[in-house]
Order: sequence, then structure tokens, then C-alpha cells
Amino acid sequence: MTIQVRQLHPVFVGEVSGVDLAATLPPETVAELTEAINRHAVLVFHGQTLDDDHLLALGRVFGNIEPPRNHRVVRRLKHAELADISNLDAKNQLRARDDHRRLDALANQLWHSDASFRQESGALSMLFAHVVPPVGGETEFADLRAAYDALTPAMQAKIEGLVVEHSIFHSRGQLGHTDYTEAERAALPPAQHRLVRTHPGSKRKTLYMGSHASHIIGWPMPDGRLLLRDLMEHATQREFVHRHSWRVGDLVIWDNRCTLHRGRSYDDAAHARDLRRVTTRDPESALERVA
Ligand SMILES: [Fe+2]
Repeated sequence: MTIQVRQLHPVFVGEVSGVDLAATLPPETVAELTEAINRHAVLVFHGQTLDDDHLLALGRVFGNIEPPRNHRVVRRLKHAELADISNLDAKNQLRARDDHRRLDALANQLWHSDASFRQESGALSMLFAHVVPPVGGETEFADLRAAYDALTPAMQAKIEGLVVEHSIFHSRGQLGHTDYTEAERAALPPAQHRLVRTHPGSKRKTLYMGSHASHIIGWPMPDGRLLLRDLMEHATQREFVHRHSWRVGDLVIWDNRCTLHRGRSYDDAAHARDLRRVTTRDPESALERVA
């Protein structure tokens, strides 16, 4: 099988045709897809038919699964390894406005990299659309390799070797959502990652940050936060950003090691949005731990 890839944005994002992701993928197709991920960082597939078994199997083709937090969720999906990216409860009813799980998930509308708050963070995420709202609810992606390349040499030298602390409670706290128990906080201690990394597949240098990125180790808090804000502003300029408008049957794969993403708002009191995600682990992120 030979896949076809059409680039959708000047610097990244490939639209892939010629592959049925519900089928067992032969090794040569997996190799072609891996090469396309390394090149485009985000791949878009249309017209797929994937149940929860298919989605989990697809994730396992590309690595070990990073189980989601599934924060205070009464499980709606078949597998605990799948992240329920929806506004639905276990009875498939729309969540109330003050639902804790809803408030927690609103922070997914901040630019982030999946599971960067874990020491073994996310590598590839695969998100499949079952139900989409009529307006809004898009997902935007930013290419952190292109953003890194566009930094001045002086800035590249300044940030080389810096280590950033990431925490899930930092991203939630930015929206003023701090209602977590001590046990919930203890279960997810902060992680440390280098701000500049080399992507293992493409060998390109990339920034690594996002809304979970709290501060720079060894720097005064305000200095580190200002630098991270500047870099976020730089990286999310329109020239590095692609917006995906979901259709039912879309599957999007993105590489958390070199991109940021954010969901966009929609009328979640009136319309369902049912997306389901599987994410693989990045074993190299655990190995890079800095003492
Ligand atoms: Fe996400």
C-alpha cells in the first residue's frame, strides 16, 4: 500500500488518503505513516470508521499507550486507555455548566502538548470524531520546529539547555480552576523537560512547552514565565498555525513532541461534541530527566 500525502499548510500538516485505519496495517504502511508524521507533524485522515477497539489498536501500532487522566470521570468509553474528549457524561447527556470534569477540560482550549505534565510525556495523539457540533469546536495546531527555526540565533543560544517544570495544575490554575484535592495533586507531581529538544524521528530541533509549562528551573519565577510567554506568543503566530475543522469520520494524528494544539470553543450547552483519543508514550522524555 502506498499512501498519498497532500501538505495543507506551508510548514506542516499532511492530508493522507489511500489508507483504511480500521484495517490491520502492514509494516510498510506503518513505516510510510511514521515517515509522514516525522515530516508533517500532523496528519489528517477523512472518512474513517473506527470504533473504540480500532482506535486503541491503532495507538498500539505506534507505541505504548499513555493512559489519560480521565479526571473524575464515570467511564463512558469501552477502554480506560482512551481519553474521552467530549462534553458528555456516562449516560451520554450534556454535562452541566458547573460540572467539575467540564471545568477541568476547558483548559484543553489553552495551547498545550498532551501529557507534558508527566515525566514520560505524550508522543503521538490520535483523535477521532464521532459527533461534531455545527459551529466551532475546531482544533488548532502549531509547529514548534518551524517556530524554533524562526528564532534569532541569540534567542536559540539563550534557551539552549534550559529546563522547564510542567504541571497539570498550572494549566488549570491559569483559568482560575484550582479545586483539586491534595490526593489529586499528589498523584500528579510536576515533571521537568528541556525547553529545546531534538525530535528523534526528524532530527529537527524543536521547542517543547505549552500551558502546562510553569517556570524555568533555576531562574526567578517572573523571568521564566515571561520568557515562556514570549515563546508561546512567537510559536502561535498564524504562520505556524493550522486550524482543523472536524467532520465526522476524521482521524487526526499529531506529534506532541514538536507541536502544540488547542480545542476551540463551541456551544457545549446545546450541542454534543464526541471525540475520542489515544496517546502513545514518549520513552525518551523520561530518559532526559535532569537532576
Ligand atoms: Fe490535548
